[in-house]
Amino acid sequence: MKKLTDLKVRFVGAGNMATSLIGGLLKRGFMPSQITASDPGGHQRQVVTEKYGVQTFGDNNAHFGIPDVVILAVKPQIMKQVAMDIANSVIETNALVISIAAGIKIEHLEKWLSVDTAIVRTMPNTPALIGEGATGLFANSNVTKQQRHLTEGIMDSVGISHWVDEEFKIDVVTALSGSGPAYFFLFMEYMQKTAIELGLKPEVAAKLTEQTALGSAILAQRSADDITVLRQKVTSPNGTTEAALKSFESNNFEEVIKQALCAANERSIQLSKDFS
Ligand SMILES: NC(=O)c1ccc[n+]([C@@H]2O[C@H](COP(=O)([O-])OP(=O)(O)OC[C@H]3O[C@@H](n4cnc5c(N)ncnc54)[C@H](OP(=O)(O)O)[C@@H]3O)[C@@H](O)[C@H]2O)c1
Repeated sequence: MKKLTDLKVRFVGAGNMATSLIGGLLKRGFMPSQITASDPGGHQRQVVTEKYGVQTFGDNNAHFGIPDVVILAVKPQIMKQVAMDIANSVIETNALVISIAAGIKIEHLEKWLSVDTAIVRTMPNTPALIGEGATGLFANSNVTKQQRHLTEGIMDSVGISHWVDEEFKIDVVTALSGSGPAYFFLFMEYMQKTAIELGLKPEVAAKLTEQTALGSAILAQRSADDITVLRQKVTSPNGTTEAALKSFESNNFEEVIKQALCAANERSIQLSKDFS
């Protein structure tokens, strides 16, 4: 079985996500010579070459070689054109294709590449840019057990990943962790704003808000207690936290969150239809 550090990986599109994945792979022990990337943008190619020592090309089929994995890291709007452009190279090399594009279904990638291609559809999120991403994964039936391991190894270089067993669940992942960072930012924004209105200096409010979010997430990750128990533990009867939580409840906070995630889920389903 091929080890992660023996792989040859080709990135198609060398923007933000590709760059963070390249950085993550190099930290994991990949050599720059194991990776190539293509992108029409000269600036992006220069960044990748200068920062990571990775060879880049302006043409997606140039020096394609025989990669084990091809990572499609272009915007969803141009995925069809890009996939069809590299279809022959992919088919000839029999590479595993990992798509990180939001909203592009496996059935369409199979149509643009080949029904025999091993394809993993992923849904990463922006914290991947700092190595703290959360990614959902879905594989078509051509993907082998070994290729699943390789995919985990690649995506886990920028955070954590989890498989879903049915493709529609990628829309749920999109609503949860894909869009999730924005929900937390909004919540933090409102906390910060109110603390300023109540008298804290903006920089103090910002620092305390950020550290509270970070500390709570790490506590939730490391504690043996689930989040309900953790919440109960900081909520003393008649205390300040209870006063705040009662206010949330009286404003039907649970329903507000539920509706927001359902709206994101619906939008994800709709976008998948539009991109196809
Ligand atoms: N950023 C995230 O947090 C995030 C989260 C989840 C999913 N994703 C998905 O990840 C994918 C990439 O997102 P990103 O944020 O990395 O976007 P990005 O920074 O815009 O990267 C895409 C790159 O592809 C290049 N490109 C354009 N046309 C191309 C072509 N024909 N062949 C090869 N490369 C081409 C772009 O060059 P130009 O800029 O010159 O056009 C750009 O450098 C998207 O599909 C997005 O849905 C991103």
